[in-house]
Amino acid sequence: MLKSTCVFALVLLLSACAEKPVKRYDAKQLLVDKCASCHNLDLPPKTYEDEKAPPMMAVAFHIKSFAQTQDESQRILKARAFVKDYVMNPSASKSFCDKESLASYGVMPSQKGKLTEDELDAISAYMFERYTQENLTKEQAIQNKLNAMPKGQLLAIKNNCLSCHRVEMKLVGPSFNSMAMKYRNSPETLKNKIRNGVGYMPAFKKLSDEELEEMSKFIFSTAKP
Ligand code: HEC
Ligand code: HEC
Repeated sequence: MLKSTCVFALVLLLSACAEKPVKRYDAKQLLVDKCASCHNLDLPPKTYEDEKAPPMMAVAFHIKSFAQTQDESQRILKARAFVKDYVMNPSASKSFCDKESLASYGVMPSQKGKLTEDELDAISAYMFERYTQENLTKEQAIQNKLNAMPKGQLLAIKNNCLSCHRVEMKLVGPSFNSMAMKYRNSPETLKNKIRNGVGYMPAFKKLSDEELEEMSKFIFSTAKP
């Protein structure tokens, strides 16, 4: 009995020690704070205008594919090591950027003093978790879905209408298809309710006439024949 208590105490002590030195970083935020002033962080990047540096997605894909290793299981570690070295000690000869791009961007300025080794370590880990082919495919599928949506539905999502309304089901507010039936002969009333709010529903005064029109079109399209 005494023995097992001791073992238990020892385990507790060890696990407490093991956890202590680990400082958790919000690597996603670090990337924004330390790298986004030059590198576009979107996955995939939505615009290539006014680029100061290659998009982070391109950097990650690039470095991962150039990382020299016989052993595939070491690839991410090698890629991370490259990033950690490059950010502090960049040079034209180390860069994997092609000559033309390098000439147009100029070599990256060293970030020494702008972030700690630990922060950089967290960033390098996050880069190769975030920018993967798998995540890119996922994001593109979401993007395609959004692009295929009627404008009004997209606006309803963007304006958080769906936190209180569903198409067929009453949630906090009535369903869209019940509104469609109720206001089918008075679309202006429906638009006014959205613009001015009603009961617990907040007003949406910032919506333009076109946006209101698109949204009401979407709501009316949900009516069941
Ligand atoms: C002041 C602008 C600037 C900031 C801030 C910056 N970079 Fe860069 N970075 C560049 C430019 C420009 C290039 C392209 C030229 C080159 O390869 O040196 C580059 C290239 C790189 C490369 C090499 C790409 C390759 O294909 O060889 C890596 C890795 C990189 N950046 C990582 C980072 C990370 C991580 C951060 C944030 C900690 C960061 N950079 C912050 C400007 C910047
Ligand atoms: C915070 C929750 C909430 C949000 C967000 C919200 N609504 Fe509502 N909505 C309600 C509630 C609750 C009602 C019922 C109010 C009442 O009748 O007292 C309502 C009523 C309505 C009505 C009138 C329905 C009727 O039968 O008279 C319309 C139209 C409507 N909402 C559309 C929208 C649209 C479009 C959006 C997004 C731009 C939106 N709502 C966002 C909660 C919300």
